[in-house]
Parts: sequence; C-alpha cells; structure tokens
Amino acid sequence: CGIVGYIGKRDVAPLLLEGLQRLEYRGYDSAGVVITSPKATGLKMVKAKGRVRDLEARVPKRFTGTTGIAHTRWATHGAPSDENAHPHLDAAGKVAVVHNGIIDNASELRAKLTAEGVEFLSETDTEVITHLIARADAEKLEDRVREALRHIEGTYGIAVLHADFNDRIVVARNGSPVVLGIGEKEMFVASDVAALVSHTRQVVTLDDGEMATIKADDYRTYTTEGSRTTASPTTVEWEAESYDMGGHDTYMHKEIFEQADAVDRVLRGRIDDRFSTVHLGGLNLDAHDARKVRRVKILGCGTSYHAGMIGAQMIEELARIPADAEPASEFRYRNAVVDPDTLYVAVSQSGETYDVLAAVQELKRKGARVFGVVNVVGSAIAREADAGVYVHAGPEVCVVSTKCFTNTTVAFALLALHLGRIRDLSVSDGKRIIAGLRQLPAQIEEMLEREDEIKKLAQEFAEAKSMLFIGRVRGYPVAREASLKLKEVSYIHAEAYPASELKHGPLALIEPALPTVAIVPDDDLLEKNRAALEEIKARSGKILAVAHREQEKADHTIVVPKNENELDPILMGIPLQLLAYHTALALGRDIDKPRNLAKSVTVE
Ligand code: G6P
Repeated sequence: CGIVGYIGKRDVAPLLLEGLQRLEYRGYDSAGVVITSPKATGLKMVKAKGRVRDLEARVPKRFTGTTGIAHTRWATHGAPSDENAHPHLDAAGKVAVVHNGIIDNASELRAKLTAEGVEFLSETDTEVITHLIARADAEKLEDRVREALRHIEGTYGIAVLHADFNDRIVVARNGSPVVLGIGEKEMFVASDVAALVSHTRQVVTLDDGEMATIKADDYRTYTTEGSRTTASPTTVEWEAESYDMGGHDTYMHKEIFEQADAVDRVLRGRIDDRFSTVHLGGLNLDAHDARKVRRVKILGCGTSYHAGMIGAQMIEELARIPADAEPASEFRYRNAVVDPDTLYVAVSQSGETYDVLAAVQELKRKGARVFGVVNVVGSAIAREADAGVYVHAGPEVCVVSTKCFTNTTVAFALLALHLGRIRDLSVSDGKRIIAGLRQLPAQIEEMLEREDEIKKLAQEFAEAKSMLFIGRVRGYPVAREASLKLKEVSYIHAEAYPASELKHGPLALIEPALPTVAIVPDDDLLEKNRAALEEIKARSGKILAVAHREQEKADHTIVVPKNENELDPILMGIPLQLLAYHTALALGRDIDKPRNLAKSVTVE
C-alpha cells in the first residue's frame, strides 16, 4: 500500500494523484484522496476501486484545495471496493485516515465501537482508527490521535486529516514506513520516497513509535508518548529521473537493461587489488570476529530468498563456512535455534518486508548478530541490522525484481570473497574471483544483445500451460528464480526442480506439451546435466538450455558468456528474465503490476 500527503500552497489534487502513480507499484486494487484548504469548512473525498487512473477519472473538475492525503491499496481486510478504499471518514465526515499495515485487534475494537453505536461503512481494519480518533476526548488533534493509538495493537503508518484542524496533517509510524518531505513553504509525507523525490530530496524518516505534525512551513516529531524527538533531514541519494521509464515501455524492461550499470555500482570502490579482497564499509566485522563465524544463515522472501540461495553457495564455496538460505516467513514461525556463532543475513530489496523485519527483530532480541543485504538505504531492515552491505541497484519499480536480484547476488559474491580471504581462500583465488567480477558488466551487456533471439523463443513458450525449470547445485537457485519470474509475470504455471531429482518424480510429467528449461553451466557437473537432458529427450520433452555452449540434446540453447564457476549463477538468470518478460508481453499481461501481487509486502 502507499500513502502520500501534501500541505502548502499548490493545488493539491494533481500533486497527490501524481504521488499515487509513483506508489502504485506498492498496491493497486483501489485508491482514494481527501482534501481541504485553510479556508474550507469540510473535507472533500473521492475513492475508486481499481487503478489510480480510475480514481483520476472520478475526480470532479472543481476538486480544489491545498492540503490532502491519499492512498493506494493492496487488500488485506475486505475485498477491493469503493467502500474499502482509503481514506476512511468518521460519521460526521470530519476525520480522514489513510493507513498501511494491519490492526491485529480490529475485530474486538469494531465490536466494542459497534456496541457503542458506531456505524461502520467498510470492512477494513483501518476504519476503527478513524472512529477512535473521532471519539477521543482531547483538545488537540495530536492528543486525539495519540489517544486512539493507545487502543491499537498491530502495525501502522498513518496520516490523519481533520476538518477542524486543517492547518496540519498528523502522522504516526509503527512498523510501516512514514517519510516526511521537506519543501520550501510546503511539506510532503509519504510511505516511500518514490512519491517525494520529484519535489524534494530532503527527507525525515520516522522511527517506530514516532509521530509528526506537518504544517506548510514547519514540522515537528515526537514519540507516541508525547516527548519531542530530534529528526534532522537527510538527502535522498536517488534522483527523481531514476524513477522514470526512460524510453522503455515497462519498468521491467528498463530495469533488466540497467543491470550492467547496476553491477558496476555495487562493485565500485569496493575492490582491493593489493590484498585480492574487498572493502565493505558497512560491515564492521573484524578478522577476529569473521574467523569465529561457524555458520551463515540467510533469510529473505521471494526473489530475495533466491538471491540468498545463490549467496549461501558462494559463501560455502569461497569461504568454506556452512551456509544456507531459508524463507524468512518460515524461519520466524518455527522457533529456530538461535546460535551465537551463526552470522544471520537478512536480504531485502525494499528493506521493509514484514516477515524479514520480524525475523530480524526476533533474532536481535535473542542476541544474534544480524547483517543486512538491502537495497533501500535507511530502510527499516537496514536500520535494524547490526551491519550490512548495500546493494546499490537504484530504485526498482516493477513489482517483480530483476536488477536488484542480480545486484544482490553480486553483493553476496563480495561478502563471500571478503569472508573467504580472511579464512582459507588463497590470494590467487581471490584474484581470479575479482577478475571474474570485473568482467560481469560487459558480459551482461553481451547477454542483453541477444534479446531478439529470446523474444522469438518466448513466442513459442507463451503457448505452454506449464513449464519445468531444472538445475543442479549452482544451477538450481537459478532455475528457482527463473520459474518464479515466469509465473509471476506471465501467469504460466512453472515449477523448479533439482535436475538430480528428476527421476524421483517429475519425469512422469514429461511429454511434448511440457517444455523444460535446463540450466547447464560448463562446470564439474556438465556431464551429469547432459544426462538429465538425455532423459527428457528420450521422453519427447522439449528443451531450452541455458548453457555456456550449444547443447546437442536441447531444441534450443541460449549461450551465456562463461565466467568463473562460482560466479556463473549471476549471469545465467539474465536471459530467463528476458524470457519471462517477452512471454508475458506476448500474452498481453500487465507486466509491471502482475495481478494480486505487490512490490513490498509490509504485512504478515
Ligand atoms: C514481494 C515482491 C517480490 C519480492 C518479495 C521480497 O513478494 O513481489 O518481487 O521478491 O516481496 O521483497 P524484498 O523487498 O524484501 O526483497
């Protein structure tokens, strides 16, 4: 979900709609906006099920004001509908609230308020906040909001507008991001800097348990208990232009083609040729501590989890430390044994995914050491972690992750090399890996030049009802991610399997109508992988191989530039991003915003 708000002198509705467009990648099943101005006596509101453009179509001509808050929603409580869209108003139409997050005790509060005679207009958990604020017994708006929040259990980022206090917007944060944007005699608020950067790059990020009041020429921050906090603005590193589509038809296409530059950025300034290692400034792990690490446990969700699987193999191979990756969403619910000698690594593009954040908080509470491998600087997970490596992929807008995935795998290669060179990785192996890393941007460019070839293949695959992706050891996480990419964006069912496990089940499925994509690196397992291709071919299965040289048994081979064995997984996924993209394009899918998905899942 996304929140945006403005208070100043400009006509607010167009500003808020533009902000919502920029946030739409966070949720897109309904949207709404509420506005007022210093001279107005009430609030004006429009809401609509659907996309921001559906809301825009509904906004009347004379919808003018200079203060307002708006929201784009990804349904949790209550189906997408006009009524369930935010903002939510109280019965008198005076209090308007937009909310990200989930109120855990919403049903109890709803029952209590209903018994007291409150009539609910929506099925959302958010509406309880509106009524609690409307019924709070205090003079100041800030105190009313504080009073309401006292009853609430759960996570929230909220913005509140009140008809009787129309010189201000009050916001609060607990588990869901709220950022203030500081302008010249105007102020912004949003759940994501994406909505702010075209107006100001001076921002204040609220902490959990913090609230703020913004007025046109002033802001103040304080805790939910009421004591003042000091929050000085910082400058956002990303430029407004990096959020534009830059001549591409979709963000996914743009982001796939940004990968050579992105990889260049994650490497920049980090390689130390003298000692054949890398400098990771945010790591604060001295050699003494690094030698004490006995295990590495990587936690993430979705694509970041897959990047973590690749990272775990790199750490095992280069640093010889036992390592594995697990979905953070599973880890946090299974009462895992937390071990003081394990280094925990939380991976997240957004730095906000709730399951990852919750896992980090639980780990820290138990005294574990947690590193972050995160893209968004200053995000919740980055701040919560003890140390970390920024991924420097730049803003990623398409819901499905491409360039951030690639950069995350490179960041893991750096971490693995760093740990390796403190432990048993030789100077010459360090040199070899560094040379491999340096080759990556040019090899990515080379790969992307093959777009037309992949586009043709995609047209064939768009007819498939289902696809199998196989890989072995280094190739397996690549197969997992490629299968996820295809299903997310094209809605074709896809399943990934270790190639080694084929004969234990999936072979039963092989027939001409089920194409297989096989990841076949030129490494020590090449012959084994070829045997798997034989098995599939013998059963008339169609095969697309992603390999370092033509594969005889495959119907088609996409030849990928060869790097060092340990780094091969970084490149092998790239043609399959293009395959997913062009398959989805051939099927006419909504590529940047696949149905039912959201970029950042900030709820459980
Ligand atoms: C959502 C997105 C995925 C992403 C996952 C983890 O499910 O749709 O593309 O991989 O969240 O997001 P994170 O920001 O933590 O990497």
